[in-house]
Amino acid sequence: MTASLPEELVALAHVGEELAAGATLAEGFERAMTMLDKRLGAKRSALFLAEARHLAVEVAYGMPSEALRPRYGLGVAGRVAKSGFPIVVPSVLREPMALADLAEPAAWRGHALSLVAVPVSISGRCVGALSVYFEARGAPSFGTRLSVVQVVASALAQGLRSHHASAPPARVEPRELAPFEYANMIGTSAPMRQVYEEIGQVARTSATALILGESGTGKELVAQAIHANSTRRDKPFIAINSAAFPETLFESELFGHERGAFTGAVGRKKGRLDRAQGGTLFLDEIGDLPLATQVKLLRVLQSREYERLGGTETLKADVRFIAATNNDLAAAVAVGRFREDLYYRLNVFTITVPRLRERAGDIPALAQYFLEKFTREHRRDVRRISSGALDLLAGHPWPGNVRELENAIERAVVSCGEPVVAESHLPEAIRGSAPRVSTERPTLAQAVADLERRMIDEALRECGGNLARASRRLGTTERILRYKSDKYRSPPR
Ligand SMILES: Nc1ncnc2c1ncn2[C@@H]1O[C@H](COP(=O)(O)OP(=O)(O)OP(=O)(O)O)[C@@H](O)[C@H]1O
Ligand SMILES: [Mg+2]
Repeated sequence: MTASLPEELVALAHVGEELAAGATLAEGFERAMTMLDKRLGAKRSALFLAEARHLAVEVAYGMPSEALRPRYGLGVAGRVAKSGFPIVVPSVLREPMALADLAEPAAWRGHALSLVAVPVSISGRCVGALSVYFEARGAPSFGTRLSVVQVVASALAQGLRSHHASAPPARVEPRELAPFEYANMIGTSAPMRQVYEEIGQVARTSATALILGESGTGKELVAQAIHANSTRRDKPFIAINSAAFPETLFESELFGHERGAFTGAVGRKKGRLDRAQGGTLFLDEIGDLPLATQVKLLRVLQSREYERLGGTETLKADVRFIAATNNDLAAAVAVGRFREDLYYRLNVFTITVPRLRERAGDIPALAQYFLEKFTREHRRDVRRISSGALDLLAGHPWPGNVRELENAIERAVVSCGEPVVAESHLPEAIRGSAPRVSTERPTLAQAVADLERRMIDEALRECGGNLARASRRLGTTERILRYKSDKYRSPPR
């Protein structure tokens, strides 16, 4: 959502004003965060700055600086400062990564807080992190909180630039992507939080997992997340795609073969099962597995034993299996294309990855994530996505899910040639699926009205339409809320 907020809104959300009203950065921070505390329940917050791989608390609100224990690359703040990507933690007390930031975790017991941490960047370089601890049961959704905190971070960065104008710039690490961490899995919507929860549950066990979901929803990413969060994380994660090989070749890929096992088998070859020893084997597109191979796979799942093709030695498989499919396996069982016994073996712990259109609230964060990924990869200087383009993205049905969004943003980054992705840079399929929106940059008044309307809609939705509660949540009066919500409802947009 942030990307859709024009820079002017930074000043407008009062944050800029409050920051500037302080004689020092610390004073401005105190004023701005007090305002956010009152309006949005942002109970505690801290600005961290990184210098030469060292992270320190620059200023804190609602707690002493000593309450935190920042370490570059570790914990939430440390990871954000290092990677340059935001992290959202729904419950601080239940997330080890978040507890790692606290000097005395026990002292935080009894406070139900969530954490939104975003990078602080000056001229596109990450110089630190801003962590804001919200009351976990507060009103705004994680999407809105993330937007607000990102706005605060960019206002702070401006402040930093002027307060520290004479100081040498903080040393900056190049952004890099870790092989996997939760931070690489974008999305804080309720369906995704459910997926994270399930990943955590199954990761703790060695149970077989079955991942269901449409094409491009992120099934493979979920499989990697399970592996990366399990005790097998230092052992290999090996994938094999059932649809990618003809039957005999698939079996030799999976089980390996001895010399002369079939024509062309010139030497002994290790299979992917061998290579996955101690780790995880990801069986992709399991619904496409031929029936004959299904029998062999079932045997491995039951007995944890297998032989290489043409071999006599029985080998032990110390492997966690994760299977994925975008087919309806139960229907395949019904028509005899998938063995029922194998289906029950696989169907122990299933995770269903939601379609992108079922979690449209995650689209802005995903778009921003891909924007940063591809500007880095293609060495382009594209800063943000216009609000018009974001509206189009939000309104598209995304039959190809996250992969389609990823492709659209890559194309936009490559074809853009300007600092801002506009509607015209998006594929025709996306431009065609929404009503035409003005391509003009919104005026300040429009942008403010838009933010106000969104916040009001959200508060009303979350309070079940109760004006009194929604107005308290927004820090305004019922009378003003009624006036404003009437104003935004007519004329209809
Ligand atoms: N939550 C997410 N955050 C960031 N990137 C994501 C997310 N979900 C998916 N992606 C990206 O989208 C692309 C598609 O994801 P993935 O390959 O895991 O989908 P899939 O469900 O396995 O698709 P298929 O069924 O077509 O194989 C990948 O590049 C992946 O990194
Ligand atoms: Mg896949």
